[in-house]
Amino acid sequence: MKKITVGALLLSMMFTGVKAQSLKSPDGKFEMNFQLKEGVPYYNLKYNGAVVVEDSKLGLRLFKDTAIKFASEIAKPEDAKYDLNNGFAKTDEKRDSKNETWQPVLGEKKNYINHYNELAVTLSQASTDRSIVVKFRLFNDGLGFRYEFPQQKNLNYFVIREEDSEIDFPTDMKAWWMVADYDSQEYQYQETKVSEIPSKWDKAYDANASQSLVKNAVQSPLMLKKEGKEPLYINVAEAAVLDYPASHLEVDAQNFKFKTHLTADRQGAKGYIQTPSVTPWRTIIVAPKAEQVMDSKMIFNLNEPTNYTDTSYIHPTKYMGVWWEMIIGKSQWAYSTAENVHLGKTDFTKLTPNGKHAANNTKVKEYIDFAAENGFQGLLIEGWNIGWEDWFGHSKEFVFDFITPYPDFDIKMLNEYAHSKGIKLIMHHETSGSATNYERWADKAFQTMNKYGYDAVKTGYVGDIIPRGEHHYSQWTINHYYRIAEKANDYKIMVNSHESVRPTGESRTYPNYISAEAARGTEYEAFGGNKPDHQTVLPFTRWMGGSMDYTPGIFQTKLDYYFPGDNRFVKTTLVKQLALYVTMYMPLQMAADLPENYKKHMDAFQFIKDVAADWDDTKILSAEPGDYVVTARKAKGTENWFVGGITDENKREYTVDFSFLDKGKKYEATIYEDGKDADYIDNPQSYNIYKKEITGKSKINFKMARSGGFAISIKPVK
Ligand code: NOJ
Ligand code: CA
Repeated sequence: MKKITVGALLLSMMFTGVKAQSLKSPDGKFEMNFQLKEGVPYYNLKYNGAVVVEDSKLGLRLFKDTAIKFASEIAKPEDAKYDLNNGFAKTDEKRDSKNETWQPVLGEKKNYINHYNELAVTLSQASTDRSIVVKFRLFNDGLGFRYEFPQQKNLNYFVIREEDSEIDFPTDMKAWWMVADYDSQEYQYQETKVSEIPSKWDKAYDANASQSLVKNAVQSPLMLKKEGKEPLYINVAEAAVLDYPASHLEVDAQNFKFKTHLTADRQGAKGYIQTPSVTPWRTIIVAPKAEQVMDSKMIFNLNEPTNYTDTSYIHPTKYMGVWWEMIIGKSQWAYSTAENVHLGKTDFTKLTPNGKHAANNTKVKEYIDFAAENGFQGLLIEGWNIGWEDWFGHSKEFVFDFITPYPDFDIKMLNEYAHSKGIKLIMHHETSGSATNYERWADKAFQTMNKYGYDAVKTGYVGDIIPRGEHHYSQWTINHYYRIAEKANDYKIMVNSHESVRPTGESRTYPNYISAEAARGTEYEAFGGNKPDHQTVLPFTRWMGGSMDYTPGIFQTKLDYYFPGDNRFVKTTLVKQLALYVTMYMPLQMAADLPENYKKHMDAFQFIKDVAADWDDTKILSAEPGDYVVTARKAKGTENWFVGGITDENKREYTVDFSFLDKGKKYEATIYEDGKDADYIDNPQSYNIYKKEITGKSKINFKMARSGGFAISIKPVK
């Protein structure tokens, strides 16, 4: 080894210092520094001069060639020389900035502001004659960065072993996290220190129909809080996950460091790339206030504008569903008692009906009547099509054809009946994870929808993915979800996808992909429960990248009402269910309970009838992850406002200051609050409703019950 003199060392340190590239946010509060240390790329991030992210490594590891066979054969040590994480020299640097305003087709505000400064550094690896670009965008709310792979002689096709982007925090922090899994996001959130994640990880999950856990890793988005006198709220996520696997975060609990871990495919590979190409953005949103993080639109800004030529068919939709009665076990999706059916061979008219099939003509008409009388636009019907008898858990590929109704579901008559009353039926395409089968049938399925006048579909991916061995969040499957979105656009159909990958701002590019589940929704209240703080964490995590189909609105929260002795219950008060329509952004908004339960509380149901689903403005009045959320939203094209407040398992008081209203105007507020004796366990249905004239100077104090809330609908007085 060559001897290094002190002088040479100093010189090289100075050299490295000189080589750091710095980028500032438009407001000057953030500073990002990029640096090569002995050919290895690093970045850091400062906010108001203080280090938020310490020097953190960048780079990817690749396979030697594209002829990947199976995981056991592929991790060869000699592959290291193909990695894109070392031996770099900086050969170019480009700067750019943007300040634009754009309008989402459906959104939380009329205008989204996309304002950033950009630095793109070209890194060249002399030993392999390849170069990549690392692009940084610094906004007033945080940092996004991604890798770009220009097309070049030695980099046309490659396969990723792992992306090793790191985020190294200087101190321990509070974290709201969920175990990482290649197939499910339907877990409870945990609230611990980063340093405690490994010791709590093993007890942080329950079973799922498809499950591939990633030990000691957590899901993205991850919400963090640096506590102390000057708290900082930090959200770690990703944006524009397209033609690439979704990522998780490996936890280094001693060093408070997170590293990207991509979802592997069936062969253990993590992304097949043809250049020119770009990766998703890694995002770090930072703000002194939790409300500012929740309000950030950075993830959407990092997605591309849509190239759809017609978005006029995309509209906010309030809907009911023949649904909850199956979820709780009162009714069934399946029509018959058969356990093994063959599509194309089994004659369903000859099977013995099980007597519990909900999607039948009589019941669907009743739901249509109720939904129409109460101003809804849509009605979801699940279990309408043949195949539910053995729908999941058998690795069966041809589960559904998506076009043939059960004998007791008259598709033509019911659609005509619905249309005559101003209701559109919402199609249900459960795939049971058999994505290959869905691709085979998608055109026929969408043609059937067009024929009968459906304009929205709820898709579903319960169970393991087919192609077998693929995962819900691997590259192939992610491509499948957006292929379906594009095909649906060809047929002018909106998509609401369940068990699919969590959205990371793609609704900007695919505006007909108007909602997704991709987290633990209301259904889990019947499958084991959601913790009372669950809905206070979701807006900081799952919602950062797009709307969720949470399906709130359960008034009959105790399930012993249906099944004496059953101790399952929805862990909120009735009023908290109302508030969720405002705290949760949902352009596709379900009133999930049964008509019979709404009929008993038509006064409270009025809020669900009135609340809007598309907005000109949103103000996060107050929020703390895991504790409470209070949100005010202004309905699209009107002067009407809605306010929702929710709390966790603790009682809480909050005073709404109405100064967001227009000065000098008078409004009538209809107030829905927990009753004095309300409690999510002992007395969930206790509530008060009253009207009050208010102005921008008014203040109203609310006492929220344990897991309770309040909801307000506000109209100008004419
Ligand atoms: C799981 C979905 O989340 C739920 O909404 C649906 O009813 C069932 N799958 C059946 O498709
Ligand atoms: Ca709490």
